Amino acid sequence: WGSEGHAIVGSIAQNFLDSNAQSYVSKILASNGDMAAVSSWADSYKFTTAGAFSKPLHYVDIKDAPPTTCGFDESRDCPNGGCINTAIQTYTNQLCDASTNLDALRFLIHFFGDITQPLHNSNRDVGGNSDKINYKGANTNLHHIWDTEMVQDRIAQNSDQATYVNNLINSITSGSYASQAASWISQHSYNAGSQYGNNLASIDYSIDSDTYGCSYVWSNYDANPSQDFSGSYFSGAASIIDIQLAKGGYRLAQHLNAAFAGCSGST
Ligand code: ADE
Ligand code: ZN
Ligand code: ZN
Repeated sequence: WGSEGHAIVGSIAQNFLDSNAQSYVSKILASNGDMAAVSSWADSYKFTTAGAFSKPLHYVDIKDAPPTTCGFDESRDCPNGGCINTAIQTYTNQLCDASTNLDALRFLIHFFGDITQPLHNSNRDVGGNSDKINYKGANTNLHHIWDTEMVQDRIAQNSDQATYVNNLINSITSGSYASQAASWISQHSYNAGSQYGNNLASIDYSIDSDTYGCSYVWSNYDANPSQDFSGSYFSGAASIIDIQLAKGGYRLAQHLNAAFAGCSGST
């Protein structure tokens, strides 16, 4: 996602933190700001010399063939451990350590956003980056409209970003997502002391995102690659953008609640 999507995920997650996680998060982030404020730190950091190693951690190149075939294979898709799934495990394991937990938390806030962006879970056309398309008459690419333009248009349709966040929170709490939000959390959810638990949960989240690649992202791209994507493509994507941002925030809160419950003492 672009900066708006990450901030929305951060704001939703902040709302669902329990009191223990809330106190860890505010102590760790301190003067850096709230979860929304630090949600795009990882996108600046990856362009620094020190942070260059983290570029491949923003996605997993699932090497299936959407829209014909979707499916995740860890040994094929994350062979050397340098993908978003292993990153989530690595940084979760650093949350209790005061010498590492600021960067770890900022990475997790960001990666729980990126893992719900369907094209951050696809190897096809470099995650859609090489698919040149038009949106509102301007040249852009398929990856970029999912990261940014379509999120900005959902914000505008909800009037502003704060209202969009509130609408998504209300959908989770008492609206159209209330009956399904529990099912968004992987049964492999973070389990303190489990070496592979975090990795398995994030693989479930990648598979969920990849499913949208087959059901919508690529099938509708193939059907009409020359359309202006601000029309029917955006209309059909709107509910996917909404639910994926909501999932990112809700899962992030649940993950941090579980992880911080496993920290002993002060940060
Ligand atoms: N670079 C290579 N694959 C990518 C993806 N799926 N998302 C973002 N950047 C990428
Ligand atoms: Zn992106
Ligand atoms: Zn990113």
